[in-house]
Amino acid sequence: MLDTVSNRPDLPPEIARRRTFAIISHPDAGKTTLTEKFLLFGGAIQMAGQVRAKGEARRTRSDFMQMEKDRGISVSASAMSFDFNEFRFNLVDTPGHSDFSEDTYRTLTAVDAAVMVIDGAKGVESQTRKLFEVCRLRDLPILTFCNKMDRESRDVFEIIDEIQENLAIDVTPASWPIGQGRDFVGCYDILRDRLELMDRADRNKVAQSIEIKGLNDPELAKHVPSNLLDRLREELEMARELLPALNPQAVLEGHMTPIWFGSAINSFGVKELMAGIGMYGPQPQIQSAEPRNILPEETKVSGFVFKVQANMDPKHRDRVAFVRLASGHFKRGMKLTHVRTRKPMAITNPVLFLASDRELAEEAWAGDIIGIPNHGQLRIGDSLTEGEILRVTGIPSFAPELLQGVRAGDPLKSKHLEKALMQFAEEGAAKVFKPSIGSGFVVGVVGQLQFEVLASRIELEYGLPVRFEASQFKSARWVNGDRQAVEKFIDANKQHIAHDNDGDIVYLTRLQWDIDRVERDYPDVKLTATKEMM
Ligand code: G4P
Repeated sequence: MLDTVSNRPDLPPEIARRRTFAIISHPDAGKTTLTEKFLLFGGAIQMAGQVRAKGEARRTRSDFMQMEKDRGISVSASAMSFDFNEFRFNLVDTPGHSDFSEDTYRTLTAVDAAVMVIDGAKGVESQTRKLFEVCRLRDLPILTFCNKMDRESRDVFEIIDEIQENLAIDVTPASWPIGQGRDFVGCYDILRDRLELMDRADRNKVAQSIEIKGLNDPELAKHVPSNLLDRLREELEMARELLPALNPQAVLEGHMTPIWFGSAINSFGVKELMAGIGMYGPQPQIQSAEPRNILPEETKVSGFVFKVQANMDPKHRDRVAFVRLASGHFKRGMKLTHVRTRKPMAITNPVLFLASDRELAEEAWAGDIIGIPNHGQLRIGDSLTEGEILRVTGIPSFAPELLQGVRAGDPLKSKHLEKALMQFAEEGAAKVFKPSIGSGFVVGVVGQLQFEVLASRIELEYGLPVRFEASQFKSARWVNGDRQAVEKFIDANKQHIAHDNDGDIVYLTRLQWDIDRVERDYPDVKLTATKEMM
Protein backbone atom coordinates (compact mmCIF):
# COMPACT_ATOMS: atom_id res chain seq x y z
CA MET A 1 0.00 0.00 0.00
CA LEU A 2 1.21 3.48 -0.78
CA ASP A 3 1.50 5.86 2.11
CA THR A 4 -0.86 8.47 0.71
CA VAL A 5 -4.02 10.37 1.20
CA SER A 6 -5.70 9.09 -1.88
CA ASN A 7 -8.94 10.16 -3.45
CA ARG A 8 -9.13 7.12 -5.75
CA PRO A 9 -8.13 4.08 -3.70
CA ASP A 10 -9.14 1.71 -6.49
CA LEU A 11 -6.53 2.81 -9.08
CA PRO A 12 -4.05 0.19 -10.32
CA PRO A 13 -0.85 0.59 -8.25
CA GLU A 14 1.30 1.64 -11.22
CA ILE A 15 -1.05 4.53 -11.90
CA ALA A 16 -1.73 5.33 -8.24
CA ARG A 17 1.99 5.94 -7.61
CA ARG A 18 2.33 8.56 -10.32
CA ARG A 19 2.51 12.26 -9.51
CA THR A 20 2.59 14.57 -12.51
CA PHE A 21 3.23 18.20 -11.66
CA ALA A 22 4.83 21.47 -12.69
CA ILE A 23 6.70 24.08 -10.70
CA ILE A 24 5.41 27.63 -10.88
CA SER A 25 7.35 30.61 -9.59
CA HIS A 26 8.51 34.12 -10.25
CA PRO A 27 11.95 34.19 -11.94
CA ASP A 28 14.77 33.86 -9.41
CA ALA A 29 12.70 32.30 -6.63
CA GLY A 30 14.63 29.06 -7.03
CA LYS A 31 12.77 26.87 -9.52
CA THR A 32 15.92 25.63 -11.25
CA THR A 33 17.66 24.93 -7.97
CA LEU A 34 14.66 23.06 -6.61
CA THR A 35 14.31 21.05 -9.84
CA GLU A 36 17.92 20.10 -9.55
CA LYS A 37 17.48 18.90 -5.98
CA PHE A 38 14.38 16.91 -6.97
CA LEU A 39 16.47 15.15 -9.57
CA LEU A 40 19.30 14.62 -7.11
CA PHE A 41 17.03 12.99 -4.55
CA GLY A 42 15.18 11.18 -7.31
CA GLY A 43 18.49 9.53 -8.24
CA ALA A 44 18.36 11.02 -11.73
CA ILE A 45 21.60 12.96 -11.31
CA GLN A 46 24.57 12.38 -9.04
CA MET A 47 25.54 15.92 -8.27
CA ALA A 48 23.74 19.21 -8.16
CA GLY A 49 24.95 21.50 -10.92
CA GLN A 50 24.49 18.94 -13.67
CA VAL A 51 21.22 20.29 -14.94
CA ARG A 52 22.63 23.75 -15.27
CA ALA A 53 25.90 22.43 -16.71
CA LYS A 54 24.05 20.30 -19.21
CA GLY A 55 21.90 23.29 -20.07
CA GLU A 56 24.96 25.40 -20.73
CA ALA A 57 26.43 22.81 -23.08
CA ARG A 58 23.19 22.57 -24.97
CA ARG A 59 22.72 26.28 -25.10
CA THR A 60 26.06 27.01 -26.69
CA ARG A 61 24.77 25.14 -29.72
CA SER A 62 22.83 28.06 -31.01
CA ASP A 63 22.46 31.78 -30.75
CA PHE A 64 18.81 31.34 -30.02
CA MET A 65 19.68 29.42 -26.94
CA GLN A 66 22.33 32.01 -26.26
CA MET A 67 19.60 34.61 -26.27
CA GLU A 68 17.63 32.53 -23.84
CA LYS A 69 20.67 32.39 -21.61
CA ASP A 70 21.41 36.10 -21.89
CA ARG A 71 17.94 37.00 -20.85
CA GLY A 72 17.88 34.48 -18.08
CA ILE A 73 14.69 32.90 -19.28
CA SER A 74 13.79 29.39 -20.12
CA VAL A 75 11.94 29.34 -23.41
CA SER A 76 11.52 25.65 -23.99
CA ALA A 77 9.64 23.32 -21.73
CA SER A 78 10.52 19.73 -21.13
CA ALA A 79 9.48 16.82 -18.98
CA MET A 80 11.51 14.79 -16.52
CA SER A 81 10.69 11.49 -14.82
CA PHE A 82 12.26 10.12 -11.68
CA ASP A 83 11.44 7.93 -8.70
CA PHE A 84 11.23 8.97 -5.10
CA ASN A 85 10.30 6.49 -2.37
CA GLU A 86 7.50 4.47 -3.92
CA PHE A 87 6.45 7.26 -6.27
CA ARG A 88 7.10 8.02 -9.88
CA PHE A 89 7.33 11.77 -10.36
CA ASN A 90 6.79 13.40 -13.73
CA LEU A 91 7.95 16.96 -13.55
CA VAL A 92 6.91 19.14 -16.45
CA ASP A 93 8.97 22.28 -16.80
CA THR A 94 7.11 25.52 -17.46
CA PRO A 95 8.72 28.37 -19.34
CA GLY A 96 9.50 31.08 -16.85
CA HIS A 97 8.97 34.24 -18.83
CA SER A 98 5.59 35.92 -18.99
CA ASP A 99 5.79 36.31 -22.77
CA PHE A 100 5.30 32.59 -23.04
CA SER A 101 2.15 32.37 -21.01
CA GLU A 102 0.15 30.45 -23.60
CA ASP A 103 2.76 27.74 -23.63
CA THR A 104 2.67 27.72 -19.86
CA TYR A 105 -1.08 27.47 -19.84
CA ARG A 106 -1.00 24.42 -22.08
CA THR A 107 1.74 22.84 -20.01
CA LEU A 108 -0.50 23.19 -17.01
CA THR A 109 -3.25 21.25 -18.81
CA ALA A 110 -0.91 18.26 -18.76
CA VAL A 111 -0.29 18.13 -15.02
CA ASP A 112 -2.35 17.17 -11.99
CA ALA A 113 -0.74 19.56 -9.51
CA ALA A 114 1.64 22.48 -9.19
CA VAL A 115 4.40 23.26 -6.75
CA MET A 116 4.51 26.99 -6.11
CA VAL A 117 7.95 28.25 -5.12
CA ILE A 118 8.15 31.61 -3.40
CA ASP A 119 11.13 33.53 -2.15
CA GLY A 120 10.88 33.93 1.63
CA ALA A 121 12.11 37.51 1.41
CA LYS A 122 9.77 38.53 -1.38
CA GLY A 123 6.54 36.62 -0.88
CA VAL A 124 3.95 36.51 -3.67
CA GLU A 125 5.38 38.20 -6.79
CA SER A 126 3.67 39.19 -10.03
CA GLN A 127 4.50 36.10 -12.05
CA THR A 128 3.58 33.81 -9.17
CA ARG A 129 0.19 35.43 -9.07
CA LYS A 130 -0.38 35.11 -12.82
CA LEU A 131 0.57 31.45 -12.86
CA PHE A 132 -1.48 30.79 -9.79
CA GLU A 133 -4.53 32.24 -11.55
CA VAL A 134 -3.99 29.83 -14.40
CA CYS A 135 -3.86 26.91 -11.95
CA ARG A 136 -7.01 28.16 -10.35
CA LEU A 137 -8.89 28.02 -13.65
CA ARG A 138 -8.41 24.27 -13.49
CA ASP A 139 -8.66 23.94 -9.70
CA LEU A 140 -5.20 22.40 -9.71
CA PRO A 141 -3.96 21.35 -6.29
CA ILE A 142 -1.03 23.51 -5.18
CA LEU A 143 1.76 22.68 -2.79
CA THR A 144 3.89 25.59 -1.68
CA PHE A 145 7.62 25.77 -0.98
CA CYS A 146 8.90 28.89 0.72
CA ASN A 147 12.54 29.06 -0.33
CA LYS A 148 15.71 30.87 0.76
CA MET A 149 15.02 30.61 4.48
CA ASP A 150 18.80 30.64 4.98
CA ARG A 151 18.62 34.35 4.12
CA GLU A 152 16.88 37.17 5.92
CA SER A 153 13.24 36.52 5.16
CA ARG A 154 9.86 37.94 6.05
CA ASP A 155 7.90 36.94 9.12
CA VAL A 156 6.25 33.55 8.59
CA PHE A 157 2.78 34.72 9.57
CA GLU A 158 3.14 37.64 7.21
CA ILE A 159 4.08 35.34 4.31
CA ILE A 160 1.18 33.00 5.02
CA ASP A 161 -1.24 35.94 5.33
CA GLU A 162 -0.04 37.35 2.05
CA ILE A 163 -0.64 34.06 0.23
CA GLN A 164 -4.09 33.69 1.80
CA GLU A 165 -5.13 37.21 0.96
CA ASN A 166 -3.48 37.66 -2.38
CA LEU A 167 -4.36 34.29 -3.81
CA ALA A 168 -7.53 33.55 -1.88
CA ILE A 169 -6.48 30.08 -0.83
CA ASP A 170 -6.24 28.61 2.69
CA VAL A 171 -2.67 27.99 3.80
CA THR A 172 -1.70 25.35 6.32
CA PRO A 173 1.88 25.00 7.57
CA ALA A 174 3.41 21.56 6.94
CA SER A 175 6.63 22.67 8.56
CA TRP A 176 7.74 25.66 10.63
CA PRO A 177 11.10 27.41 10.31
CA ILE A 178 13.30 27.78 13.37
CA GLY A 179 15.21 31.06 13.26
CA GLN A 180 15.97 32.82 10.03
CA GLY A 181 18.86 34.15 8.01
CA ARG A 182 22.13 33.36 9.71
CA ASP A 183 20.28 31.95 12.73
CA PHE A 184 18.18 29.57 10.68
CA VAL A 185 18.80 26.09 12.10
CA GLY A 186 16.08 24.06 10.44
CA CYS A 187 12.38 23.30 10.56
CA TYR A 188 9.93 21.57 12.78
CA ASP A 189 8.05 19.04 10.65
CA ILE A 190 4.51 19.57 11.87
CA LEU A 191 3.03 16.68 9.92
CA ARG A 192 5.47 14.11 11.25
CA ASP A 193 6.57 15.59 14.58
CA ARG A 194 10.21 15.67 13.60
CA LEU A 195 13.01 18.12 13.88
CA GLU A 196 14.89 18.68 10.65
CA LEU A 197 18.26 20.34 11.04
CA MET A 198 20.10 22.04 8.23
CA ASP A 199 23.63 21.07 7.32
CA ARG A 200 25.29 24.15 5.87
CA ALA A 201 28.51 22.31 5.19
CA ASP A 202 27.35 19.96 2.46
CA ARG A 203 24.74 21.29 0.05
CA ASN A 204 24.15 17.95 -1.61
CA LYS A 205 23.54 16.05 1.57
CA VAL A 206 20.23 15.61 3.24
CA ALA A 207 20.12 17.31 6.58
CA GLN A 208 19.80 15.54 9.89
CA SER A 209 16.35 14.50 11.00
CA ILE A 210 15.44 13.81 14.63
CA GLU A 211 12.27 12.11 15.92
CA ILE A 212 10.55 14.26 18.48
CA LYS A 213 7.68 13.34 20.75
CA GLY A 214 5.80 16.60 20.76
CA LEU A 215 6.96 20.10 21.52
CA ASN A 216 7.78 19.28 25.16
CA ASP A 217 10.25 16.53 24.28
CA PRO A 218 13.54 17.31 26.10
CA GLU A 219 15.39 16.23 22.93
CA LEU A 220 14.38 19.53 21.35
CA ALA A 221 16.45 21.58 23.77
CA LYS A 222 19.56 19.57 22.89
CA HIS A 223 19.41 20.78 19.28
CA VAL A 224 17.72 24.16 19.33
CA PRO A 225 19.08 27.22 21.23
CA SER A 226 16.67 28.14 24.04
CA ASN A 227 15.67 31.56 22.65
CA LEU A 228 14.70 29.97 19.32
CA LEU A 229 12.92 27.13 21.07
CA ASP A 230 10.76 29.50 23.11
CA ARG A 231 9.87 31.36 19.99
CA LEU A 232 9.09 28.16 18.07
CA ARG A 233 6.71 26.98 20.82
CA GLU A 234 5.00 30.34 20.91
CA GLU A 235 4.64 30.58 17.13
CA LEU A 236 3.36 27.04 16.75
CA GLU A 237 0.81 27.68 19.45
CA MET A 238 -0.35 30.76 17.56
CA ALA A 239 -0.33 28.89 14.24
CA ARG A 240 -2.57 26.23 15.70
CA GLU A 241 -5.04 28.84 16.81
CA LEU A 242 -4.96 31.07 13.76
CA LEU A 243 -4.36 28.80 10.79
CA PRO A 244 -6.49 25.98 9.45
CA ALA A 245 -5.36 22.39 10.03
CA LEU A 246 -4.38 20.28 7.04
CA ASN A 247 -7.44 19.00 5.19
CA PRO A 248 -6.23 16.59 2.47
CA GLN A 249 -9.50 16.77 0.56
CA ALA A 250 -9.36 20.59 0.45
CA VAL A 251 -5.78 20.29 -0.89
CA LEU A 252 -6.90 17.92 -3.64
CA GLU A 253 -9.71 20.29 -4.56
CA GLY A 254 -7.31 23.22 -4.79
CA HIS A 255 -8.83 25.21 -1.91
CA MET A 256 -5.94 24.75 0.51
CA THR A 257 -2.19 24.72 0.07
CA PRO A 258 0.23 23.17 2.55
CA ILE A 259 3.44 25.18 2.87
CA TRP A 260 6.93 23.83 3.52
CA PHE A 261 9.84 26.07 4.42
CA GLY A 262 13.39 25.41 3.36
CA SER A 263 16.40 26.30 1.34
CA ALA A 264 16.71 24.61 -2.01
CA ILE A 265 20.35 25.52 -2.44
CA ASN A 266 21.16 23.83 0.87
CA SER A 267 19.01 20.80 -0.05
CA PHE A 268 16.97 21.67 2.97
CA GLY A 269 13.27 20.92 3.21
CA VAL A 270 13.27 19.41 -0.27
CA LYS A 271 12.81 15.80 0.78
CA GLU A 272 9.94 16.75 3.06
CA LEU A 273 8.32 18.57 0.15
CA MET A 274 8.80 15.52 -2.08
CA ALA A 275 7.27 13.26 0.55
CA GLY A 276 4.40 15.75 0.75
CA ILE A 277 3.85 15.63 -3.01
CA GLY A 278 3.64 11.85 -2.76
CA MET A 279 1.36 11.88 0.25
CA TYR A 280 -0.99 14.79 -0.51
CA GLY A 281 -0.52 15.34 -4.23
CA PRO A 282 -3.14 13.99 -6.60
CA GLN A 283 -2.91 10.77 -8.56
CA PRO A 284 -3.55 10.93 -12.30
CA GLN A 285 -6.91 12.59 -12.68
CA ILE A 286 -9.95 12.12 -14.89
CA GLN A 287 -9.43 13.84 -18.25
CA SER A 288 -12.22 15.84 -19.81
CA ALA A 289 -12.96 14.67 -23.33
CA GLU A 290 -15.75 14.35 -25.86
CA PRO A 291 -18.07 12.53 -26.16
CA ARG A 292 -17.13 11.25 -22.69
CA ASN A 293 -14.48 11.79 -20.04
CA ILE A 294 -11.50 9.45 -19.72
CA LEU A 295 -10.67 7.61 -16.50
CA PRO A 296 -6.99 6.91 -15.88
CA GLU A 297 -7.65 3.28 -14.96
CA GLU A 298 -9.26 2.42 -18.29
CA THR A 299 -7.29 -0.41 -19.85
CA LYS A 300 -7.22 1.20 -23.30
CA VAL A 301 -4.53 3.79 -23.85
CA SER A 302 -5.35 7.42 -24.61
CA GLY A 303 -3.41 10.65 -24.47
CA PHE A 304 -3.12 14.14 -25.89
CA VAL A 305 -0.46 16.43 -27.28
CA PHE A 306 0.12 19.50 -25.12
CA LYS A 307 3.36 20.66 -26.65
CA VAL A 308 5.29 20.28 -29.85
CA GLN A 309 8.93 21.09 -30.01
CA ALA A 310 10.59 21.27 -33.38
CA ASN A 311 14.25 21.06 -34.24
CA MET A 312 15.30 19.92 -30.80
CA ASP A 313 18.31 18.54 -32.56
CA PRO A 314 19.19 20.88 -35.44
CA LYS A 315 21.00 18.04 -37.22
CA HIS A 316 17.86 15.97 -37.55
CA ARG A 317 15.04 18.45 -37.93
CA ASP A 318 12.89 16.24 -35.81
CA ARG A 319 9.79 17.28 -34.00
CA VAL A 320 8.80 15.84 -30.72
CA ALA A 321 5.20 15.89 -29.62
CA PHE A 322 4.87 15.78 -25.84
CA VAL A 323 1.96 13.51 -24.99
CA ARG A 324 0.31 13.24 -21.62
CA LEU A 325 -1.14 9.77 -21.22
CA ALA A 326 -4.67 10.02 -19.90
CA SER A 327 -5.39 6.31 -19.49
CA GLY A 328 -4.09 2.79 -19.77
CA HIS A 329 -0.78 1.01 -20.04
CA PHE A 330 1.20 2.07 -23.07
CA LYS A 331 3.74 -0.25 -24.69
CA ARG A 332 6.27 0.64 -27.33
CA GLY A 333 5.20 -0.29 -30.85
CA MET A 334 1.52 0.18 -30.11
CA LYS A 335 -0.76 1.38 -32.89
CA LEU A 336 -2.86 4.31 -31.80
CA THR A 337 -5.55 6.19 -33.65
CA HIS A 338 -4.79 9.79 -34.46
CA VAL A 339 -8.24 11.11 -33.67
CA ARG A 340 -8.16 14.28 -35.81
CA THR A 341 -7.39 12.39 -39.01
CA ARG A 342 -8.77 9.00 -37.88
CA LYS A 343 -5.53 7.46 -39.14
CA PRO A 344 -3.58 4.75 -37.33
CA MET A 345 -0.13 5.66 -36.07
CA ALA A 346 2.46 3.15 -34.93
CA ILE A 347 4.37 4.57 -32.00
CA THR A 348 7.73 2.94 -32.51
CA ASN A 349 10.19 5.39 -30.99
CA PRO A 350 8.52 6.99 -28.01
CA VAL A 351 10.88 8.68 -25.58
CA LEU A 352 10.78 9.07 -21.86
CA PHE A 353 12.57 12.09 -20.52
CA LEU A 354 14.74 10.75 -17.79
CA ALA A 355 16.80 13.63 -16.51
CA SER A 356 20.07 11.98 -17.47
CA ASP A 357 19.00 11.68 -21.10
CA ARG A 358 16.24 10.82 -23.50
CA GLU A 359 15.48 7.13 -23.37
CA LEU A 360 13.24 4.86 -25.41
CA ALA A 361 10.03 4.32 -23.52
CA GLU A 362 9.29 0.60 -23.50
CA GLU A 363 6.19 1.23 -21.47
CA ALA A 364 4.36 4.03 -19.76
CA TRP A 365 1.20 4.52 -17.72
CA ALA A 366 -1.57 7.03 -17.35
CA GLY A 367 -0.01 10.17 -15.88
CA ASP A 368 3.29 9.79 -17.73
CA ILE A 369 4.59 12.15 -20.37
CA ILE A 370 6.12 10.57 -23.45
CA GLY A 371 7.72 12.22 -26.41
CA ILE A 372 6.74 11.06 -29.89
CA PRO A 373 9.12 12.01 -32.69
CA ASN A 374 7.17 12.76 -35.87
CA HIS A 375 7.28 14.72 -39.09
CA GLY A 376 4.50 17.16 -38.36
CA GLN A 377 1.47 14.86 -38.13
CA LEU A 378 1.04 15.58 -34.45
CA ARG A 379 -0.23 19.00 -33.44
CA ILE A 380 -1.05 20.61 -30.14
CA GLY A 381 -4.45 19.48 -28.94
CA ASP A 382 -4.39 16.21 -30.90
CA SER A 383 -5.72 13.11 -29.18
CA LEU A 384 -4.37 9.59 -29.58
CA THR A 385 -6.45 6.58 -28.51
CA GLU A 386 -6.51 2.84 -28.88
CA GLY A 387 -9.44 3.07 -31.24
CA GLU A 388 -12.37 4.80 -29.64
CA ILE A 389 -12.90 8.30 -30.97
CA LEU A 390 -12.32 10.41 -27.90
CA ARG A 391 -11.20 13.99 -28.20
CA VAL A 392 -9.52 15.52 -25.19
CA THR A 393 -10.90 19.01 -24.53
CA GLY A 394 -9.75 22.08 -22.67
CA ILE A 395 -6.56 22.92 -24.56
CA PRO A 396 -7.16 26.45 -25.73
CA SER A 397 -5.47 28.74 -28.14
CA PHE A 398 -5.53 32.42 -27.19
CA ALA A 399 -5.86 35.39 -29.50
CA PRO A 400 -2.45 37.05 -29.75
CA GLU A 401 -1.91 40.41 -28.14
CA LEU A 402 0.64 41.73 -30.64
CA LEU A 403 0.54 41.50 -34.41
CA GLN A 404 3.29 42.21 -36.92
CA GLY A 405 3.88 41.69 -40.60
CA VAL A 406 6.85 39.61 -41.66
CA ARG A 407 9.05 39.75 -44.74
CA ALA A 408 11.85 37.49 -45.94
CA GLY A 409 15.16 39.33 -46.43
CA ASP A 410 15.31 37.64 -49.85
CA PRO A 411 11.92 38.01 -51.64
CA LEU A 412 12.58 34.82 -53.64
CA LYS A 413 12.48 32.85 -50.43
CA SER A 414 8.87 33.60 -49.50
CA LYS A 415 7.87 29.93 -49.91
CA HIS A 416 10.53 28.99 -47.38
CA LEU A 417 9.22 31.65 -45.08
CA GLU A 418 5.73 30.22 -45.32
CA LYS A 419 7.03 26.77 -44.41
CA ALA A 420 8.95 28.09 -41.43
CA LEU A 421 5.99 30.12 -40.20
CA MET A 422 3.64 27.15 -40.48
CA GLN A 423 6.02 25.04 -38.50
CA PHE A 424 6.23 27.56 -35.68
CA ALA A 425 2.47 27.97 -35.73
CA GLU A 426 2.01 24.23 -35.31
CA GLU A 427 4.54 24.24 -32.52
CA GLY A 428 2.39 26.86 -30.83
CA ALA A 429 5.21 29.43 -30.86
CA ALA A 430 3.14 31.98 -32.79
CA LYS A 431 -0.14 32.51 -34.60
CA VAL A 432 0.16 32.90 -38.33
CA PHE A 433 -2.63 34.58 -40.31
CA LYS A 434 -2.95 34.76 -44.05
CA PRO A 435 -5.05 37.81 -44.95
CA SER A 436 -7.53 37.17 -47.75
CA ILE A 437 -6.43 40.32 -49.56
CA GLY A 438 -2.81 40.85 -50.56
CA SER A 439 0.22 38.64 -50.07
CA GLY A 440 2.27 38.07 -46.97
CA PHE A 441 1.47 37.01 -43.46
CA VAL A 442 0.54 38.56 -40.19
CA VAL A 443 2.19 36.97 -37.18
CA GLY A 444 0.67 37.17 -33.71
CA VAL A 445 2.32 36.59 -30.36
CA VAL A 446 1.67 37.28 -26.71
CA GLY A 447 4.85 39.22 -25.92
CA GLN A 448 7.36 41.25 -27.89
CA LEU A 449 10.20 38.92 -27.02
CA GLN A 450 8.60 36.16 -29.06
CA PHE A 451 9.18 38.11 -32.30
CA GLU A 452 12.88 38.20 -31.54
CA VAL A 453 12.95 34.51 -30.72
CA LEU A 454 11.07 33.73 -33.95
CA ALA A 455 13.33 35.86 -36.13
CA SER A 456 16.36 34.27 -34.61
CA ARG A 457 15.00 30.72 -34.98
CA ILE A 458 13.91 31.25 -38.60
CA GLU A 459 17.37 32.44 -39.44
CA LEU A 460 19.06 29.62 -37.56
CA GLU A 461 16.85 26.74 -38.47
CA TYR A 462 15.95 27.75 -42.02
CA GLY A 463 18.90 29.96 -42.95
CA LEU A 464 16.44 32.73 -43.70
CA PRO A 465 16.93 36.27 -42.43
CA VAL A 466 13.54 37.90 -41.82
CA ARG A 467 12.21 41.26 -40.78
CA PHE A 468 9.20 41.86 -38.60
CA GLU A 469 7.44 45.14 -39.25
CA ALA A 470 4.49 47.12 -37.96
CA SER A 471 1.11 45.86 -39.07
CA GLN A 472 -2.04 47.89 -39.56
CA PHE A 473 -3.83 45.28 -37.44
CA LYS A 474 -3.83 45.29 -33.67
CA SER A 475 -5.66 42.15 -32.63
CA ALA A 476 -7.41 39.05 -33.95
CA ARG A 477 -10.65 37.22 -33.20
CA TRP A 478 -11.90 33.89 -34.41
CA VAL A 479 -15.17 34.06 -36.31
CA ASN A 480 -17.99 31.66 -35.47
CA GLY A 481 -21.72 31.56 -35.74
CA ASP A 482 -24.53 30.97 -38.16
CA ARG A 483 -23.06 29.95 -41.55
CA GLN A 484 -25.04 32.35 -43.69
CA ALA A 485 -24.43 35.23 -41.35
CA VAL A 486 -20.70 34.44 -41.34
CA GLU A 487 -20.58 34.36 -45.16
CA LYS A 488 -22.35 37.68 -45.39
CA PHE A 489 -20.01 39.10 -42.80
CA ILE A 490 -16.92 37.87 -44.67
CA ASP A 491 -18.13 39.34 -47.97
CA ALA A 492 -18.63 42.74 -46.43
CA ASN A 493 -15.36 42.78 -44.46
CA LYS A 494 -12.81 41.20 -46.83
CA GLN A 495 -10.06 43.65 -45.87
CA HIS A 496 -10.22 42.39 -42.27
CA ILE A 497 -10.51 38.67 -42.96
CA ALA A 498 -7.69 36.14 -42.71
CA HIS A 499 -7.24 32.41 -42.12
CA ASP A 500 -5.13 30.92 -39.37
CA ASN A 501 -2.79 27.99 -39.94
CA ASP A 502 -5.63 25.51 -39.31
CA GLY A 503 -7.73 27.24 -41.97
CA ASP A 504 -10.11 28.79 -39.44
CA ILE A 505 -11.54 32.20 -40.19
CA VAL A 506 -10.12 35.15 -38.32
CA TYR A 507 -11.19 38.78 -38.13
CA LEU A 508 -8.24 41.17 -37.85
CA THR A 509 -9.02 44.42 -36.11
CA ARG A 510 -7.45 47.84 -36.13
CA LEU A 511 -9.32 49.24 -33.16
CA GLN A 512 -11.47 47.95 -30.34
CA TRP A 513 -14.21 49.87 -32.10
CA ASP A 514 -14.07 47.29 -34.95
CA ILE A 515 -15.13 44.56 -32.55
CA ASP A 516 -17.91 46.68 -31.07
CA ARG A 517 -19.17 47.42 -34.56
CA VAL A 518 -19.29 43.74 -35.55
CA GLU A 519 -21.13 42.87 -32.35
CA ARG A 520 -23.65 45.58 -33.08
CA ASP A 521 -24.10 45.03 -36.82
CA TYR A 522 -23.84 41.24 -36.96
CA PRO A 523 -25.64 39.78 -33.93
CA ASP A 524 -25.45 36.24 -35.44
CA VAL A 525 -21.66 36.35 -35.77
CA LYS A 526 -19.56 35.50 -32.75
CA LEU A 527 -16.02 36.83 -32.32
CA THR A 528 -13.96 34.89 -29.79
CA ALA A 529 -10.58 35.49 -28.22
CA THR A 530 -9.94 31.80 -27.60
CA LYS A 531 -10.24 28.74 -29.72
CA GLU A 532 -10.24 25.15 -28.61
CA MET A 533 -7.38 23.20 -30.19
CA MET A 534 -8.53 20.04 -31.89
P1 G4P B 1 14.78 30.36 -10.94
O1 G4P B 1 15.00 29.10 -11.69
O2 G4P B 1 13.47 30.37 -10.19
O3 G4P B 1 14.96 31.60 -11.74
O4 G4P B 1 15.86 30.46 -9.76
P2 G4P B 1 17.26 29.73 -9.58
O5 G4P B 1 17.07 28.34 -9.10
O6 G4P B 1 18.11 29.95 -10.76
O7 G4P B 1 17.79 30.57 -8.34
C1 G4P B 1 17.97 31.97 -8.40
C2 G4P B 1 19.09 32.37 -7.49
O8 G4P B 1 18.74 32.07 -6.14
C3 G4P B 1 20.38 31.62 -7.75
O9 G4P B 1 21.43 32.51 -7.44
C4 G4P B 1 20.35 30.52 -6.73
O10 G4P B 1 21.62 30.02 -6.41
C5 G4P B 1 19.71 31.22 -5.57
N1 G4P B 1 19.06 30.30 -4.62
C6 G4P B 1 18.24 29.25 -4.90
N2 G4P B 1 17.84 28.66 -3.76
C7 G4P B 1 18.39 29.34 -2.74
C8 G4P B 1 18.35 29.20 -1.32
O11 G4P B 1 17.73 28.31 -0.76
N3 G4P B 1 19.06 30.12 -0.60
C9 G4P B 1 19.77 31.12 -1.19
N4 G4P B 1 20.41 31.96 -0.39
N5 G4P B 1 19.84 31.27 -2.52
C10 G4P B 1 19.17 30.39 -3.28
P3 G4P B 1 22.28 33.25 -8.53
O12 G4P B 1 23.31 34.01 -7.82
O13 G4P B 1 21.35 34.01 -9.44
O14 G4P B 1 22.85 32.10 -9.40
P4 G4P B 1 24.06 31.11 -9.05
O15 G4P B 1 25.26 31.91 -9.40
O16 G4P B 1 23.98 30.78 -7.60
O17 G4P B 1 23.82 29.96 -9.95
